[in-house]
Amino acid sequence: MQIIANKNPSAPVGVFDSGIGGLTVARAISDLLPDEKLIYFGDTAHMPYGNKSAQLVSGFALRISDFLLREMQCKAVVIACNTASAAAYTLLRDKYEGAAPVINVIDPMVEAVIADDAVKKVGIIGTLTTISSGVYTEKLARRKPSLKYAALATPLLASLIEEGYHHTGEIRSILKQYLSHPSFEDIDALVLACTHYPIIKDEIAECFNRPVKIFDSALVVAQRLKEILTIEKLLTDKRQGDDVFYVSDLTDSFRLNARIFFNRDVDLLLHPV
Ligand code: DGL
Repeated sequence: MQIIANKNPSAPVGVFDSGIGGLTVARAISDLLPDEKLIYFGDTAHMPYGNKSAQLVSGFALRISDFLLREMQCKAVVIACNTASAAAYTLLRDKYEGAAPVINVIDPMVEAVIADDAVKKVGIIGTLTTISSGVYTEKLARRKPSLKYAALATPLLASLIEEGYHHTGEIRSILKQYLSHPSFEDIDALVLACTHYPIIKDEIAECFNRPVKIFDSALVVAQRLKEILTIEKLLTDKRQGDDVFYVSDLTDSFRLNARIFFNRDVDLLLHPV
């Protein structure tokens, strides 16, 4: 079934992730574009994405994007998840070409890293599926061959964050083990290639006893969305109601985390995918 393009600037922007990670991106979008209404989808029933095959994650991403574009009549979709961006961006971009812009979290991050001339060697941490896709290292190597890099899968982090272990000794000790990997010894920058990780940015920074510039996707993705909406003449200056939050399973952890995140109770709607 063909998607009928919603070219109305007052239509909402769809944002999705496996869980709370994409809220880091949603918050940055709301800060930069306060008039844009967001429809957030947390695929809590299938969290974590990071240890699932790219094929399976692509299926989830397709169903969620269809829900956001067809049923919710969104004007654009932000894949606020590195794993889903690595697995499904090309598929979604091609499927909705001409109907709705699809924004991924990887390309704006790559652009931010290569634009920074002070960065000589960058570490990349993300889920197993993101790191094993090689998408960051391929794009960075292609765009800036002189840049050195080291990529490391840190598979335990997203689930620990989702379960509320943000600022605990457990996460600090796991981070210490991951980030003391020999290939990270001489990095001067670190890419948080998972949208859950900005939630533990301070704990990550504490692991280094030297300055390491930390790149997270939230702001650069919000800026990219603004550029695209501007080009497509889809930017609005009239807000149409509050943001709406959907989850594929009503979990206490999502509810609790959303409350911590937004400093208020957030109504969650259930929509299994
Ligand atoms: N927040 C996600 C990412 O950026 C996914 C984490 C997960 O579900 O494993 O990769």
